[in-house]
Amino acid sequence: MINFGGVLCAVTLVVLLPFLEAADGKSTDPSEVSALMAIKGSLVDPMNNLKNWNRGDPCTKNWTGVFCHDLGDTYLHVTELQLFRRNLSGNLVPEVSLLSQLKILDFMWNNLTGNIPKEIGNITTLKLILLNGNQLSGLLPDEIGNLQSLTRLQVDQNHLSGAIPKSFANLRSVKHLHMNNNSLSGQIPSELSRLNTLLHLLVDNNNLSGPLPPELAAAKSLKILQADNNNFSGSSIPTLYYNMSGLFKLSLRNCSLQGAIPDLSAIPQLDYLDLSWNQLTGSIPTNKLASNITTIDLSHNMLNGTIPSNFSGLPYLQLLSLKNNLLDGSVPSEIWAGVNPNRNGSLVLDFQNNSLNMLPAEISPPPPNVTVVLYGNPICENSSETLIINLCRLQSINLEKSKQETSTAMVCGACPTEKNYEYNPSFSDQCFCAVPLGVGLRLKSPGVTDFHPYENAFKIDLTSLLQLFPYQLYIENYIWEVGPRLNMHLKLFPSNTSLFNMSEVVRLRHVLAGWEITLLDVFGPYELLNFTLGSYEDEYPNLASSGLSKAALGGILASTIASAIALSAVVTALIMRRNSRTNRISRRSCKSL
Ligand SMILES: *[C@@H]1O[C@H](CO)[C@@H](O)[C@H](O)[C@H]1NC(C)=O
Ligand SMILES: *[C@@H]1O[C@H](CO)[C@@H](O)[C@H](O)[C@H]1NC(C)=O
Ligand SMILES: *[C@@H]1O[C@H](CO)[C@@H](O)[C@H](O)[C@H]1NC(C)=O
Ligand SMILES: *[C@@H]1O[C@H](CO)[C@@H](O)[C@H](O)[C@H]1NC(C)=O
Ligand SMILES: *[C@@H]1O[C@H](CO)[C@@H](O)[C@H](O)[C@H]1NC(C)=O
Ligand SMILES: *[C@@H]1O[C@H](CO)[C@@H](O)[C@H](O)[C@H]1NC(C)=O
Ligand SMILES: *[C@@H]1O[C@H](CO)[C@@H](O)[C@H](O)[C@H]1NC(C)=O
Ligand SMILES: *[C@@H]1O[C@H](CO)[C@@H](O)[C@H](O)[C@H]1NC(C)=O
Ligand SMILES: *[C@@H]1O[C@H](CO)[C@@H](O)[C@H](O)[C@H]1NC(C)=O
Ligand SMILES: *[C@@H]1O[C@H](CO)[C@@H](O)[C@H](O)[C@H]1NC(C)=O
Ligand SMILES: *[C@@H]1O[C@H](CO)[C@@H](O)[C@H](O)[C@H]1NC(C)=O
Ligand SMILES: *[C@@H]1O[C@H](CO)[C@@H](O)[C@H](O)[C@H]1NC(C)=O
Repeated sequence: MINFGGVLCAVTLVVLLPFLEAADGKSTDPSEVSALMAIKGSLVDPMNNLKNWNRGDPCTKNWTGVFCHDLGDTYLHVTELQLFRRNLSGNLVPEVSLLSQLKILDFMWNNLTGNIPKEIGNITTLKLILLNGNQLSGLLPDEIGNLQSLTRLQVDQNHLSGAIPKSFANLRSVKHLHMNNNSLSGQIPSELSRLNTLLHLLVDNNNLSGPLPPELAAAKSLKILQADNNNFSGSSIPTLYYNMSGLFKLSLRNCSLQGAIPDLSAIPQLDYLDLSWNQLTGSIPTNKLASNITTIDLSHNMLNGTIPSNFSGLPYLQLLSLKNNLLDGSVPSEIWAGVNPNRNGSLVLDFQNNSLNMLPAEISPPPPNVTVVLYGNPICENSSETLIINLCRLQSINLEKSKQETSTAMVCGACPTEKNYEYNPSFSDQCFCAVPLGVGLRLKSPGVTDFHPYENAFKIDLTSLLQLFPYQLYIENYIWEVGPRLNMHLKLFPSNTSLFNMSEVVRLRHVLAGWEITLLDVFGPYELLNFTLGSYEDEYPNLASSGLSKAALGGILASTIASAIALSAVVTALIMRRNSRTNRISRRSCKSL
């Protein structure tokens, strides 16, 4: 369908679009038109990005950021509002709820102020609420808990306060709750433990309090009553059962959490755990965490007791940071003694600034690629043993923070200079000059700490989603940013030819910028930062004349790709119908190219 839509659109984009309205004779639902007018009325738009929001009908006259579908009734309906990074400020009005068929509400990276209107909870079709990177304040509305189709709530990097609503436990489809970098307070509701579809719970950098609910641990201590679980709201939620069986990433860094760490060993897929920079006390639970875990960061707390042995035998572990706690006793040598020397990638065991005072006798040094840091423990005082002295050095942590590919010296002649021809470094044994497409991509919350061992898996995953061969993708560089988020620059090369044809360019852009592909859980959601045409712009002038200019694509186009969001079957059917009868195409498919 993607392929089909792309090809079709490339052919029909410029000529046929204006006739859509005439052919269908449908116009936008009047209540949705008035909703859009109300929305515009309370936005401040200094760059005049919404200047065409007065030109005829929203769905047929290409209003900026407005995407519609024909759902088969009398009117056309607004299904997506994509207004990310448009320099907008002002408020989001309650009338947004009149967009009753809306699936995507995307105002990422603007400067909206005021509250999130509670009426948003009336839009039962909503799948994605993307309001991250604004100045929104006030409470998270309880009513959001009504949204049974919601898969993502991204409200990170705002000024939201108050508690995380218990009603969020009703979000039975939700996969991503990104609420980091706000001023949320209160306890994490134990009811959230019911969210068995939840993959990422990110609440870093808030002002929570109290303990982590022990119910988060779930499974083994399940209080299974009955599965009549879809009928509660507000504060009187009965304790039904807890099941976080899908949880992949739990990140609650710098949240002022207190109390003990619950036993998280029963969460089968847990891959990334960050509870650092809190005031957690007591000892570390001794049960073994999920075997696929890559990252355990419990640093900067007040944990005491000894380091349990449960951290050994975790084959994918990349980082175990227990630094700046109150741990004492012996250094558990089995943590590194059991590491497979042939493992791919590095392991950092950071125990610095604790009260460790002993090393087991007859211990062997850590294997290559395993870094142990004991600096700042009593064991380091006055020791003359070489091993201890080595481990006690304040060493720089050996995880790759960025990669800049050095151009591999090839024995090929220079490429022609008239286009931006290059050799594909992923295809290094071939002297084949081709023109790449540039893609800036950011993994918003990856499940790894060291990307290097996952590079190949990433290549395979992304290329298969893009229907390319793995060697067509070259990862030029990547760098870790705060979050931590992974910012990367990729190049896509044509296969066995020097240029992608135009429909391929259009298709690749469409797939990456739409909401249609989902990377493996370990890579998490991504944001498209730019899609650079380079000399394709000159090669295919129609790309530019159809709004796909360099300027348009570099910077302003950015979108976060949804989990399992695909165009509805209705639209697919619509496009096919149009094509077979009239050779026209739905506007949405074209606009999102
Ligand atoms: C639709 O609007 C965008 C800007 O909002 C513009 O770049 C594009 O050329 C327009 N397309 C058509 C077919 O009017
Ligand atoms: C937003 O504002 C910045 C700085 O004024 C400007 O460079 C950028 O082009 C604007 N973007 C949009 C979409 O208006
Ligand atoms: C938001 O406002 C701040 C200052 O008020 C400004 O620096 C920033 O560029 C604005 N961001 C956007 C996306 O408009
Ligand atoms: C919309 O939401 C508000 C507040 O949540 C509620 O009072 C109102 O009844 C809802 N309207 C409809 C039509 O559901
Ligand atoms: C979130 O907040 C932390 C702590 O205040 C800050 O260091 C970090 O830069 C913020 N992250 C983002 C993405 O703004
Ligand atoms: C965090 O909460 C405490 C009290 O609960 C309050 O005194 C403090 O100002 C809050 N800090 C922020 C940054 O909101
Ligand atoms: C849900 O609760 C309401 C009122 O509390 C009740 O009328 C309704 O029957 C309940 N529905 C189910 C499915 O239990
Ligand atoms: C937990 O949720 C998973 C996934 O939905 C489901 O397969 C499993 O049966 C649930 N377990 C319990 C005890 O409810
Ligand atoms: C661990 O990860 C591998 C892929 O790396 C996956 O096939 C496997 O199902 C995962 N195991 C669990 C328990 O999630
Ligand atoms: C750990 O600290 C708690 C208080 O936070 C204390 O009750 C407990 O006795 C301490 N345990 C050890 C082994 O020091
Ligand atoms: C250490 O890791 C690097 C890459 O992270 C790998 O190339 C090398 O083979 C590893 N060495 C060992 C001894 O595992
Ligand atoms: C696109 O984004 C990547 C990653 O941030 C960056 O390295 C690259 O320079 C950007 N390209 C353009 C043309 O902005």
